[in-house]
Amino acid sequence: MNILTFRTDDELNKAGAGIITGMLQTNPRSILGLATGGTPVGIYRELVETHRQGLVSFAKATTFNLDEYVGLERTHPASYFAFMQEHLFGSVDVDPAACHIPDGTAADLKAECARYDSLLEQVGQIDMQLLGLGHNGHIGFNEPDHSLVRSTHAVELREQTREANARFFNKPEEVPTHAITMGVGTILKAKMILLVVRGQDKADIVARALQGPITTECPASLLQTHPHVVVLLDSEAGSRL
Ligand code: GLP
Repeated sequence: MNILTFRTDDELNKAGAGIITGMLQTNPRSILGLATGGTPVGIYRELVETHRQGLVSFAKATTFNLDEYVGLERTHPASYFAFMQEHLFGSVDVDPAACHIPDGTAADLKAECARYDSLLEQVGQIDMQLLGLGHNGHIGFNEPDHSLVRSTHAVELREQTREANARFFNKPEEVPTHAITMGVGTILKAKMILLVVRGQDKADIVARALQGPITTECPASLLQTHPHVVVLLDSEAGSRL
């Protein structure tokens, strides 16, 4: 595991965007696994700027997002579809047909998960999976549990997760109770994983995930088993290591 700690947000964002830009420059057909939430916003902003300068193209890339809320229309401002449009896809030259996000409005969620998995199987392996970290150690929406699920599935969100995400909604009760998420098997199958964590409130879970026991009760701890993980932290998130 390669753990890098940054003094400023700007340095962290540039490092994260630099890794993704480097991948796309080396292989324009890269398969990118993308994340939502507050953590990657600065990295996406940096990527948009790099694209504006003509230094990176997404035109031949394929993307797979980690997760999506169940029951939110794509037009809902808090949907992860809308998030990706706002922070990245709407400002760079992606091929919309090659940008995949689970459909949380599907009538048959099991069929939607199977459809997403078959798209993932067609590409074989994600080249780089960007990840944030939940306060309880979740990755994507794989919540702590006695066991974890390998492939794409629907999950009930923990209260703590709904509370943490309430800031993206008008009222806390508007936060959906369920989501579709990529499974840990798919995440761990990625060639490279880029875990990004910011803030003092994540310092404890960063230490548990990176240095604690490997347990399904902290899904991010499974990343310790992966051969190529790069971790980008701000100094607060890295303060308990
Ligand atoms: C959310 C998302 C995750 C994200 C994590 C941290 O619930 N499903 O993909 O990485 O929780 O979110 P944030 O970056 O806003 O702290």
